[in-house]
Amino acid sequence: MDRVKLNDTLELSRLVYGMWRLGDDADTSAGHIQNKIGACLDQGITTMDQADIYGGYEAEEILGNALTPELRNRIEIVTKCDIVAPVGRYADAKVKHYDTSRAHILASVEHSLRLMKIDHIDLLLIHRPDPFMDHFETGSALDEVVASGKVRAVGVSNFRPWDWDLLQSAMTTKLVTNQIEISLLHHAPFTNGDIAFHQMHGQPPMAWSPLGGGALFQDESLASLRTALTAIAQEQDVDMGAVAVAWLLAHPARILPVLGTNNLDRIKRIGDAAQVQIDRETWFDLYTHALGREVA
Ligand SMILES: NC(=O)c1ccc[n+]([C@@H]2O[C@H](COP(=O)([O-])OP(=O)(O)OC[C@H]3O[C@@H](n4cnc5c(N)ncnc54)[C@H](OP(=O)(O)O)[C@@H]3O)[C@@H](O)[C@H]2O)c1
Repeated sequence: MDRVKLNDTLELSRLVYGMWRLGDDADTSAGHIQNKIGACLDQGITTMDQADIYGGYEAEEILGNALTPELRNRIEIVTKCDIVAPVGRYADAKVKHYDTSRAHILASVEHSLRLMKIDHIDLLLIHRPDPFMDHFETGSALDEVVASGKVRAVGVSNFRPWDWDLLQSAMTTKLVTNQIEISLLHHAPFTNGDIAFHQMHGQPPMAWSPLGGGALFQDESLASLRTALTAIAQEQDVDMGAVAVAWLLAHPARILPVLGTNNLDRIKRIGDAAQVQIDRETWFDLYTHALGREVA
């Protein structure tokens, strides 16, 4: 499995396992979570993607209950903060909102460390751009959590280039990635400037919901795309989903797909995507099916 260096101290596996749906699994026992992480590690997938809000602010604790010191040392933990929804520890919030204040970021880091029973977060992301952000306050809070050693690196999620520039302009630490939605079902970032921006700056973006959150396998409107994916999958002896992920891996921006299956058999095959060959014409063939028309 390829690894991607995000700065001098942080390297992630090219494929990342996402834990948004961890609490939706019928089995959230420590043993089952350890089996899921073990299946990832067997394939060289060492990076686990979390967020404070996942599972109604409970998914970090589910992971923490499964982490032995030995296991923790073999993985990188990404987590996120700034979404405050009126559930769990924020049940008293009057309205769902974003909070990028220093007090919230520092408190959220403490919660994440405590719930996951870890002494540092490898990568902390601001989950959503905050239209009420004081970039000086947020930027210095992110610098502060890195300086304290509680967080190794910082980045953002769902940011547009101008949101990134605003925050970065008030920081000493370099933001290392932006986790955005990218897939054959959500391909606008290839042409709306998002991927171009990160490609130009040499920052590999992370791609959430690379299989459209499962819609790739179900939506009636995607039948022709599924046929095209299946043909390539049969030639290369993998599942259709692996081809959809390989479509992202083939792009020169060095995208890191974040996969969210809860199914242990599927987790064991996430790494198949790394073996799939996608040349330029194949890339455009799939893009054509995703667009529903040939390119101009
Ligand atoms: N930064 C953000 O704002 C943000 C937003 C959303 C997600 N994320 C991150 O991205 C990760 C991945 O998101 P995601 O879970 O939506 O990604 P995904 O990998 O695109 O979708 C996973 C879903 O697809 C289903 N699936 C996978 N393979 C399938 C197959 N062969 N047939 C039928 N269904 C299949 C899974 O069901 P099974 O479980 O049954 O396999 C699961 O429900 C999350 O865990 C989270 O870490 C970040």
